[in-house]
Amino acid sequence: MRVVVVVVLAGVATAQATYKPKPVANLKQIMRSIPYPNSNLIFDVQSRSPKDEMEWKNVENASMAIVEFANLVTIPGRLRENGQPVPVERADWNKYARGLVDAGQACYQAARKRSPEAVIGCTDRLSESCSHCHDVYRDRPQAAAAPKKP
Ligand code: HEC
Repeated sequence: MRVVVVVVLAGVATAQATYKPKPVANLKQIMRSIPYPNSNLIFDVQSRSPKDEMEWKNVENASMAIVEFANLVTIPGRLRENGQPVPVERADWNKYARGLVDAGQACYQAARKRSPEAVIGCTDRLSESCSHCHDVYRDRPQAAAAPKKP
């Protein structure tokens, strides 16, 4: 009898410990809250070099936020601001998400070198990782999803 109780309680504990990733905010909200401020922090190095360890760490951390953001734009179930689902099943969407990982890692490595020049070198790649996707999905939101209007 005691064994049964223990097994049941263990089951409850496991269920509580499991959190399935699920989107809360819409796509525009996470764009504004994560890549926008973090890429700005990295772009700032173009006009002012980090002056101490803490500022360099901030650049490292911002780069990692960009890398991890790829996960947030590819989990299923998130909606765009207009209520349409984020097209996570599309090959090009996933390619653009992977671009965030590559650009973020390049900036991370540059920041680890404590080299302003190397960080400036990664910023083109970073802004391209945004614009490649925006050109298709943000600026012309329906272009990829719907047939062209006459
Ligand atoms: C995989 C595609 C994709 C990538 C990569 C991407 N975005 Fe976006 N972004 C979008 C889409 C689509 C929207 C429109 C949001 C909506 O429809 O809800 C958007 C919207 C935004 C907005 C909101 C603009 C507004 O109107 O307020 C900002 C800011 C933004 N993105 C920043 C970035 C930055 C910075 C990067 C690169 C570091 C980036 N995004 C990378 C797809 C992407």
